[in-house]
Amino acid sequence: MPLHHDVVKISYRSNSTDTPHRHRENTLNTLPQRQVTIASIAAYPRSACISRGYSARYKSPLRYPGGKSSLSKFVQSIFVANDIVGGVYAEPYAGGASVALSLLFGNYVQKIFINDVDPAVHAFWRSAVSQPDELCRLIRDTRPSVKEWNRQRAIYLTGKRASALELGFAAFFLNRTNRSGIIGSAGIIGGQNQNGPWKMDARYNRSELSARIERIASLKNRIKVTGIDAALFLTNIAKKLPPESLLYLDPPYYVKGERRLYANYYGPNDHTDIAAAVGRLRCHWLVSYDQAPAIRQLYRRFHSLSYSLRYSASATSLGKEVMFFSDRLVVPTDHRPAGAVSRLPSATRQKRSSAGIAVAG
Ligand SMILES: C[S@@+](CC[C@H](N)C(=O)[O-])C[C@H]1O[C@@H](n2cnc3c(N)ncnc32)[C@H](O)[C@@H]1O
Repeated sequence: MPLHHDVVKISYRSNSTDTPHRHRENTLNTLPQRQVTIASIAAYPRSACISRGYSARYKSPLRYPGGKSSLSKFVQSIFVANDIVGGVYAEPYAGGASVALSLLFGNYVQKIFINDVDPAVHAFWRSAVSQPDELCRLIRDTRPSVKEWNRQRAIYLTGKRASALELGFAAFFLNRTNRSGIIGSAGIIGGQNQNGPWKMDARYNRSELSARIERIASLKNRIKVTGIDAALFLTNIAKKLPPESLLYLDPPYYVKGERRLYANYYGPNDHTDIAAAVGRLRCHWLVSYDQAPAIRQLYRRFHSLSYSLRYSASATSLGKEVMFFSDRLVVPTDHRPAGAVSRLPSATRQKRSSAGIAVAG
């Protein structure tokens, strides 16, 4: 019996706060394929099947500096611990969206939202779900060469005049052939003369990458791609999500969020505005950041977890990050990231310490 036929079915009692029951099943049990709208989510049956035996750390077609695929198992545990399996997951700053895709392929969620304001990143995701055959053809038929790189870079730089497919492919091509996957400003792997230790095709395995896109396209009815500013996403889309939803925000870093890594970056006021909008959300959420004192201050009301993360942009350096969680979210102990240290909200710590109870952090 192939591993992917081994699923754990989670069914719910009418009281949604109950713990899910798990039943082993020997059939490949996927959620129905249909066009899902926000309105139809409310009517969706509260049941879901978590697929076992797939790779929990899904490899996105896009390489991302600071990509969060290593958090996938932890976020999956959040769905189970909070009894929201079969719900909705949204990433307003999606980038490579590897956590979203791992939840979708593992059937932890019924639907994912992939939002990114960068027009080139958005065009890539849009093409992956709406023109997958054409995108895969371009990937298979385009041999990486310096001449091709210059052509794709020109399309990327004059993006507004290109079609979504052309721009999306240019973003993908540059992401796979540039150093550290930095689309906008990094040079080509191996240099213009291709005399470095690595050549530009080192990360461009055409059949493997088009297979990743085909896999995404097979679930396209459960993927909603948008390209709006995250602040707008929070006020317009996130507010309409059902209670069984989790929003993961991975904004540009406070300290390192400069132009070098991403096409869009934030100043201090943007971080303050996002923290205020996040504080008004009614659904579950989590936010991750670099460990800047200003960010700790903005989210001091919320439970946090500091941890270490190996950045894909530099395999040797370990970054210190922090996650903040919405008030009602149960933060599981399973699969916490390396070096995780939990810290209660400042008000809870004060209350506990005045009552003589030991507190962490
Ligand atoms: C840190 S990366 C996200 C990486 C992602 N978590 C992953 O695992 O691949 C941040 C992403 O947010 C996008 N972004 C930056 N500012 C944004 C904004 N104001 N609204 C929406 N997306 C934004 C960038 O284009 C970039 O792709």
